[in-house]
Amino acid sequence: MSQTPATCPFTGAQSAQTVPAAIETSTGEGREAPVADWVKISDLYTNPFPIYKRMREEAPVHWVPEVNRYMVTSYSACHEIEQNEALFSADERNSLMKRSMGHSMLRKDNPEHQVDRDSYGATLRPATIKKHWNDIFAANNEKYLAQLVAKGPGADFVWDYAAPYTAENLRLICGFHNSTQADMQRWSQTLIDGTGNYADDPEVWAKAAASSAEVDAAIDEMLPYLAANPDRSLLSNLASLPIPLEAIRANLKMTIGGGLNEPRDVLATTVWALLSNPEQLDAVLEDPGLFSRAFEESVRWVAPIGMYPRETTQDLVLEGIKLPAGARLGVVLGAANRDPKVFTDPEEFNIFREKKPHLAFGGGVHFCAGTWIARAQVAQIALPEVFRSLPNLRLDPRSASIDAGWVFRGMTKMPIIWDS
Ligand code: HEM
Repeated sequence: MSQTPATCPFTGAQSAQTVPAAIETSTGEGREAPVADWVKISDLYTNPFPIYKRMREEAPVHWVPEVNRYMVTSYSACHEIEQNEALFSADERNSLMKRSMGHSMLRKDNPEHQVDRDSYGATLRPATIKKHWNDIFAANNEKYLAQLVAKGPGADFVWDYAAPYTAENLRLICGFHNSTQADMQRWSQTLIDGTGNYADDPEVWAKAAASSAEVDAAIDEMLPYLAANPDRSLLSNLASLPIPLEAIRANLKMTIGGGLNEPRDVLATTVWALLSNPEQLDAVLEDPGLFSRAFEESVRWVAPIGMYPRETTQDLVLEGIKLPAGARLGVVLGAANRDPKVFTDPEEFNIFREKKPHLAFGGGVHFCAGTWIARAQVAQIALPEVFRSLPNLRLDPRSASIDAGWVFRGMTKMPIIWDS
């Protein structure tokens, strides 16, 4: 069996650790995937991690009837899938995401994918963030932290601060000068609900369709405006390119769905984890340079996107498990990031752990285009200011915080108190 070096998705550096190349394209040598009929969506939603532990210990891939997919839980298999788009297509048939948001770059394979990805230009890249977005994020952070402080101890960290802060940042990144951060939150949630509407609930489709129409109208209004008044936003860049309107609409909806929840969730999860681990909190307060380590450890520990889909393009064997052509896969980043074959004591939040590349931002051609935006707005700007502005910040003992979700996971309730 050949060995491929593990490449850090952030730096491109190759780690000493090797990941076995475990794909065989013959069907003869594999076994059938074990059936995990004991996996229930309600249990995944509450706490997926004990389920992932059991699955990883049993096999790298299971057929999960309730999810109607093969779930891939080992780090090495998830990594292989990300790197091989010829065998694992992102262009899933009957995709609910395509129905909810249109056919975005996230559900295209190359060469079509690359055209859309390139159309985003320099907006999300580190140099533009440094020159342009950091000051805007800092101003937004000041505004929404002040609103949180005005609300007083007992306020909810997620809904009174992290959600409006990240939504306002994304509104400006996209270029929706005709909309509000509250519009962004509503669009994001209803479009995401559409992509997860396996129950085919007509009310969920109606809300997703209403948001989709609102986003289309907002784009139609902004494109001519931004063509005449260019700025650094995504829509401004798109206004100058010969990109079909359908692609612009789908890519913006995917970005609204994918660029808001995750920074919001990693911001809240990191604060929650630090407040729950006082020695690590003391260390970052002593050395604010450690906030970026806390961020990376947080997305490893609780991957904000816990699972994303792929589809096999031919019969193959993945780490000893037979998969037919057209098999619908769930690449379970939330499980891969806690694989003990890669991470020591993986269930622990530990900002001092040995640095290893996690998979929270995906990999291969679809590696998250917003990685640097997420790091800047959360690790560089929000986290240090949160602890500076809220002295002796702690979780409110009168009302327990709640973390939930598995396809997307984050804090759904997080009341906080501080010395005012
Ligand atoms: C902590 C925050 C974030 C996490 C954990 C995250 C995670 C991910 C993951 C796992 C993917 C790949 C999914 C797949 O291959 O199917 C992805 C793709 C993407 N993300 Fe993010 N994301 C974050 C923040 C953002 C932000 C802030 C933006 C935009 C401002 C953004 C824009 C995108 C785009 C455009 C893609 C599609 C890339 C492509 O298909 O080439 N993300 N993200």
